[in-house]
Formats: sequence, C-alpha cells, structure tokens
Amino acid sequence: MIVIPFFVNEKPSSEWKNHFIRDSFLRHIVIGNPIMSVQIQNNVHVLDHPLVSHKLAILRARDTPPHHFRHALHELSWLLAFPALQKLRVTSVEIETPLEKTIAAVMRDPKPCLVSILRAGNGLIDGFSQICPEASVGHLGLYRDHDTAKPISYYSSLPDEMEKRQVILGDPMLATGGSAMMAIETLQTMGVTDIVFACLVAAPEGVAAVHGKFPDVPIVTAALDRELNKMNYILPGLGDAGDRIYGTVRS
Ligand code: PRP
Ligand code: URA
Repeated sequence: MIVIPFFVNEKPSSEWKNHFIRDSFLRHIVIGNPIMSVQIQNNVHVLDHPLVSHKLAILRARDTPPHHFRHALHELSWLLAFPALQKLRVTSVEIETPLEKTIAAVMRDPKPCLVSILRAGNGLIDGFSQICPEASVGHLGLYRDHDTAKPISYYSSLPDEMEKRQVILGDPMLATGGSAMMAIETLQTMGVTDIVFACLVAAPEGVAAVHGKFPDVPIVTAALDRELNKMNYILPGLGDAGDRIYGTVRS
C-alpha cells in the first residue's frame, strides 16, 4: 500500500510526489513484502524459503542424475540471484510511460560483473545472467588440488573497468574457503571494492576463513551446512558440484 501524506497548506509538487511514491514503493518491496526471507548474521545471508530447501534436497540426493541436477541448480540460481543482487546500484531517471512522465530506478553504468569460479560456478552464474542479462560475465579458472585441497589458478577472463563495477562472485560450494579467497584476492588486486560471494552450500570452516580475511564481503548462501570431512568435503553437502553438474563423477 502506498500512503500519500496529507498536505495542509499546499499541494505537493508532482516531482516531490514522484519521489515519494518511488521511495514508498521501494520500501514496500524491500521491507514490507520481501521476495525472499533471509536470515542474516555476521554478514552471512542464509536463504529461508521452502522452494529453496525443496530444490536443495534434489541436489543433495545422490541418485539425482546430472540433467536433473543441472535443472534444479538453474532454478535455484534464479532464487539466489535476488538476495545476491539486493544491493545493486541504481540511479533515478525520468521516463515517459504511455500516460505521463515518471521517475524510475535503473541499473547504473558500468554494469555489474557476474564472475564464475570455473567450472562449477557456471551452474550459478548462467542463471544469474538470465535474471540480470545487462551484467558482464567474467571467469576465473580455479581447481582444488586433490591432495592438498589448495586452489590452483589456470584461467582468467574479466571485462575492463573492473574497479568501477559491483561484482557477484559465484561458486556453488564454499568448503575450506581457499578458492573463494583466491578469487576475492584476484578481484581486489584489480581494484574491485564491492564484492558479494554467492554459493549454494557453505561450510562453517569456509565462512570463518573468508570472513577472517575479508569480513566486508557478504556471503549469500542457500544453506549453511555442518562441517567438513577429512577430505575437505562438506557434510551433509551434495558431493563434488562440478562432477555432478557435468556427469564426470568417477568411482
Ligand atoms: C569445487 C567448488 C569450489 C571449490 C570449493 O571446485 O566448485 O570451487 O571446490 O572448495 P574450497 O572452498 O575448499 O576451495 P573444484 O576444485 O572441485 O573444481 P571444479 O569446479 O572444476 O570441479
Ligand atoms: N567442492 C565440492 O564440489 N564439494 C565439496 O563438498 C567441497 C568442495
């Protein structure tokens, strides 16, 4: 509901009225009628919605085949895109509807950059990019060494003006935090100051590691799981995300 205040002595200017309506409208969306309920603690945003837990259950189940896994991941990435892009920078512009002029909030330039940590990150970033097609898409190739669990960098492709862009960094899994920290460091070295890390499943160890080094980087996740096992896999988790997306699980 939008409430227009009562003016005793004067009529509000149409410009003022437009601003008031816009602000009330935004407040209504952000506070009064949240699209996605989110539990926030120490800069960790955990999604709280039955659709999210339903789709996560499909991903966690060991018998879900890769084509179903990809489909559920894709749908989940749309839901995750909303809280991950919550702080998108906008600017007010005047537009003309078929009926009259009004003020609208539109994305600022340069547009944000969605950065995928290869390979599994593509499963999330492809969905984000459908919700926010104006954003550029960057890639950082990292894989975890099987013996040490330390990330190894093998590829990088990012657009120009990174230092001016907001970045949503996506990877389905935050385990030890090594890959996320290496990616954040790479972005910060390029001058990026506004980064949100989005994932599906986070381990407490990974959250502690990332926030120990980068406390200002919000972590948006669909689930915060229990712990890592001896092989640094997340419990209960969903296994190796990249292998499950691309059907490369080896016995
Ligand atoms: C997985 C996952 C993350 C990383 C998380 O990638 O997609 O990038 O592990 O683990 P960490 O928090 O301990 O660094 P993986 O190395 O298996 O590469 P892949 O995406 O190519 O399968
Ligand atoms: N990488 C994954 O894909 N899964 C885990 O549980 C840990 C790291």
